Amino acid sequence: MTEAPAPTVRALVEGATRVLADAGVGSPRHDAVALAAYALGLPRLDLVMAPPAPEGFTEEYAGLVDRRRRREPLQHIVGSTVFRYLSLRVEPGVFVPRPETETVAQVAVDEAARLTAEGRSPLVVDLCCGAGGIALSVDTEVPGARVVAVDASPEAVALTRHNHGASGSGTMRVELGDVRDPALLAELDGTVDVVVSNPPYIPPDAVPVDPEVRDHDPDLALYGGGADGLDVPRAVLAAAARLLVPGGLLVMEHAEVQDAASRADAEATGAFEAVATLPDLTGRPRMLVARRRGPAPVPREPGEPPPGAQAGVGDSQP
Ligand SMILES: C[S@@+](CC[C@H](N)C(=O)[O-])C[C@H]1O[C@@H](n2cnc3c(N)ncnc32)[C@H](O)[C@@H]1O
Repeated sequence: MTEAPAPTVRALVEGATRVLADAGVGSPRHDAVALAAYALGLPRLDLVMAPPAPEGFTEEYAGLVDRRRRREPLQHIVGSTVFRYLSLRVEPGVFVPRPETETVAQVAVDEAARLTAEGRSPLVVDLCCGAGGIALSVDTEVPGARVVAVDASPEAVALTRHNHGASGSGTMRVELGDVRDPALLAELDGTVDVVVSNPPYIPPDAVPVDPEVRDHDPDLALYGGGADGLDVPRAVLAAAARLLVPGGLLVMEHAEVQDAASRADAEATGAFEAVATLPDLTGRPRMLVARRRGPAPVPREPGEPPPGAQAGVGDSQP
């Protein structure tokens, strides 16, 4: 009797897609293909050109698919994620960077690039940096920017340092620190051009449904404290009020139901003007932007736009 031929990569991926769909995974085909590419050691896999399954692939792939079936995050299994132009290492114990935060990073990158184009060397602080996606985006995309990244989690600080080393970029500073500490980065008070943050902001009664988030992202990264989840974001506002130079820009991510509360919290500090909400790529209100109030504005040339009037920042309050 002849032996049945070994299953092809394509057939194994089809089977894995069904397994992951049955387990409630939101993107079963994408994840099945990504796990096969990872097991094959390929950056990506095109099933039209799928290679024959090498020896041992079937067993290794089955193990990876089983981990994903049990709702371990894909990024933890493969050990990395893509954020803007970066491939970042991710690890259990540190928040997995999300695509929607790429838009938050874009606002900080744009502001830093605008200041660089004026011949300045902008100082950008990323509070609650996690794996370092926002800070490293500014650091790698805006040559000349000086970047400081802070997180209260030693694991996050170590991971940001690793990702910084792997990026091959300049001299970004990474600090362990608590944004609620009124002395955090006190030597930079009044000198920072951009404060950018994706802090924890989930209220205690809004436990995420997805096991990947609920069971694998650290609580420190998810829950912002207080009944509304906005205690840590309010600490970010206070730190930004202290750190920013007059006219400096604050950009902070929040949940889509927190836009009005975030604007009210920013207004309540009395430290900000041009307080507004910007949408993410799907049009949902997902980030607060505001400018540090300052002394009387510098006289402008006729026709010169006022500070903060550049497109995309502070001009789209819903
Ligand atoms: C939602 S995660 C975002 C991480 C990263 N900014 C990103 O977008 O991928 C929030 C981060 O805030 C950090 N964090 C929580 N409380 C903090 C605090 N009081 N001070 C500084 N960092 C804090 C957590 O450790 C976590 O890395």
